[in-house]
Amino acid sequence: METVFISQNEEQTAKIAAQLSELTQAGDIWALHGTLGMGKSVFARAFIQNLTDAEEVPSPTFTLVQMYAAPHFEIYHYDLYRLEKPSDIFELGIEEAFYNGVCLVEWPEKMENLAPRNMWNVQLEPDENGRKITISTDDENKIQRLQKWLNAK
Ligand SMILES: Nc1ncnc2c1ncn2[C@@H]1O[C@H](COP(=O)(O)OP(=O)(O)OP(=O)(O)O)[C@@H](O)[C@H]1O
Ligand SMILES: [Mg+2]
Repeated sequence: METVFISQNEEQTAKIAAQLSELTQAGDIWALHGTLGMGKSVFARAFIQNLTDAEEVPSPTFTLVQMYAAPHFEIYHYDLYRLEKPSDIFELGIEEAFYNGVCLVEWPEKMENLAPRNMWNVQLEPDENGRKITISTDDENKIQRLQKWLNAK
């Protein structure tokens, strides 16, 4: 299943991300696809700030991961741009993060074939009016949650 939004500015992307954060649950991994400056960090920041009291959400450019505490799970914000090789993800606490946390992953392509299955895919692309944001998943449980969320909007 996939659903598409057009976002005309940073604020609209932030709003979509904050609203989507309401349907997330422990074990979810959000793969944020898109080239440099496309809005992956804008998405992650708004998602995290809607679920936590974090005032600042800096990009974990050098540490590659930053953790936040939400009421029901931890949120792990990954920026894998500087990951040297896919197996280096095992040094970033992914077992705990992927199974028990909610993960937001910028540059998920860097995991190559070690990328987990059943991620939420968020694709950010240029659009004449800003950004096209496509949310997609093949996982039955996620499809149901997304449909419920769309119906409630
Ligand atoms: N519709 C939009 N949605 C999100 N950001 C937008 C939009 N239009 C313009 N922008 C601008 O694009 C930039 C997005 O920056 P951001 O850091 O989120 O990108 P990124 O995908 O995380 O890049 P990087 O690959 O460097 O991590 C911001 O400067 C933001 O103001
Ligand atoms: Mg970024």
